[in-house]
Amino acid sequence: MSARPFFLMTDPDHFEVCYQINPWMQPRAWKQDPKACLAEARSASADLKQALKDCGAQVETIGAVRDLPDLVFPANAAIVLDGRVLLARFRCPERQGEEAIFRSVFSRLKKRGIVQDIIDLPEGLFQEGAGDCIWDLGRQLFWAGYGPRSSRGALAIIQGVFGQEVVPLQLATDRYYHLDTCFCPLSGGEVLYYPPAFTEAGLAAIHARVAPHHRVEATDEEAQAFCVNAVNLGHKVVMARAPASLKAKLRAHGYDLVEIDLSPFMLSGGAAYCMTLRLDRTSVPSAATLAAE
Ligand code: ARG
Repeated sequence: MSARPFFLMTDPDHFEVCYQINPWMQPRAWKQDPKACLAEARSASADLKQALKDCGAQVETIGAVRDLPDLVFPANAAIVLDGRVLLARFRCPERQGEEAIFRSVFSRLKKRGIVQDIIDLPEGLFQEGAGDCIWDLGRQLFWAGYGPRSSRGALAIIQGVFGQEVVPLQLATDRYYHLDTCFCPLSGGEVLYYPPAFTEAGLAAIHARVAPHHRVEATDEEAQAFCVNAVNLGHKVVMARAPASLKAKLRAHGYDLVEIDLSPFMLSGGAAYCMTLRLDRTSVPSAATLAAE
């Protein structure tokens, strides 16, 4: 695979907000004007794709599937590291139909040599992919959220499959139901995170591994704007429209924000990070990967 960051995204053609499985989802707002909402979603998704490409990434787009509106959030499809794919299992019946679709997407990627192994979780466990399990390249570990969606028991499996340390982070509230809504490691070693989303033990685990000068705390306003759900590539951070306070904070750490109006997807409780899945992550970075990071 080339050294360019490689992302999966999903065509938004069948995206809608027609059920509610997290507190942000607003089916009634969508219903007021589904056509306009879909048109906005299409252009928001195109803008995100373009922004990633402008940052030097390659983006592969998978097809939309009718009646699986949340397929637009491929971060939840799997955990991918070193060409190994641990397929997700969704807690909510509304999303379980996505599993077969993502499985066939990964089989096709395997045939093309883009991934090597596809692994299933044991029965009885839930794990919602990279949305709840984020690789921290600098620290060489996975940060893994659990509680609202993913099972605590999945963490030992992740550790076994990838042979990497997994730091458990219990999520304290349904509002921040996936780790990627409240936690984002950055390339310089900083972590952008929203403290109230974590239990005391979770916060202690973060503080034990992230030095104070690397902690970038998001405010209520910044977290609610879905700005922690960001894609970081080198000194660029691609995210939903951000409050000025966050721009200033990240700029002080040397990052440039690339903002996109992702409001149609925020009506479903998601934004930039969860609309993507990175496929080229390796535990040991090559010189080329480091240059691109
Ligand atoms: N409506 C989707 C759900 O509740 C949004 C998922 C967003 N994904 C994420 N990784 N935060 O599952």
